[in-house]
Amino acid sequence: MEASEEKYLLHRGLLLPRETHTADSLTFAHEFELRDDDILAVTYPKSGTTWMQEVLPLVLNGGDLTPVQTIPNWDRVPWLEETRLAIVAERLPTPRALVSHLPYHLMPKSLDSSKAKVIYVSRNPKDVMVSSYHFHKMASFLDDPGTFHEFMDKFLQGKVLFGKWTDHVKSWRHTELGDRILYLTYEEMVQDLRGSVRRVSDFLGRALDEEAMERIAAQCCFNNMKTNCMSNYSLVPQDIMDNSKSPFLRKGVTGDWRNHFSAEQEAQFSAVISREMEAEELSSSLWCPEPSPPAHQ
Ligand code: A3P
Repeated sequence: MEASEEKYLLHRGLLLPRETHTADSLTFAHEFELRDDDILAVTYPKSGTTWMQEVLPLVLNGGDLTPVQTIPNWDRVPWLEETRLAIVAERLPTPRALVSHLPYHLMPKSLDSSKAKVIYVSRNPKDVMVSSYHFHKMASFLDDPGTFHEFMDKFLQGKVLFGKWTDHVKSWRHTELGDRILYLTYEEMVQDLRGSVRRVSDFLGRALDEEAMERIAAQCCFNNMKTNCMSNYSLVPQDIMDNSKSPFLRKGVTGDWRNHFSAEQEAQFSAVISREMEAEELSSSLWCPEPSPPAHQ
């Protein structure tokens, strides 16, 4: 089953939803002048983008809750490649925080010439795929995912939004950014949100006292974000995103893949991902993190 032309545009080999991307928005992204103090959180879709749209403004303004309680996430920390950026760019506070799903080679030239910082968040690809499968069921601007197995085949072939997961992760492991890039995982954020927020604030050189840390961690926990209408997509009309079919903030856990994959599917999936990550000098625990098993008593 091929992706429908009506719903997706093809940009440099990547499928992007027409609902939020146009030729103009992609040109705007390509020519966007990143500034030295800009921060870009980059993710493959379903890896924690919305979470970073909550964390970043809070870290940048010392834990003031106003932006996350009053501005929808897509305008508060807009996507570099989406149509909203041109509308809100002028009114973004400084330092500006953006998100992007683009691979490294499609970044604007200004990423190299500026000192802008990048936070790359990755997630276990099995959980990414499960999250994406449910997202395709609730978002009318995406193709119906078909059966779980059909969707898995498309995911492994990269015939999904923003292409192959392995290409994305690899592109961001080989950058010229040096200490301007921080790697975080969704799994470490689930396991230790405060510690993850601390890593972000240290990376951005923002000192936060314990009270601010506490406030940020409380604001960014799953249950709180689920009820924040500025972050849970409930402001989007139901015919575009139907939270009653599957809430956008669905489960917020690690390892949900176990409830979806058969043993055969897991073996097939892992074999493909392992093969494509083989040349990487990364232990699989880095690119395919699993929560530690409980210690034996
Ligand atoms: P699930 O579908 O597994 O629940 P993105 O924002 O990149 O599209 O990713 C969406 C995924 O991140 C969803 O995963 C969503 O529930 C999860 N997520 C968002 N905010 C979260 C939070 N505060 N804690 C845990 N997971 C969160």
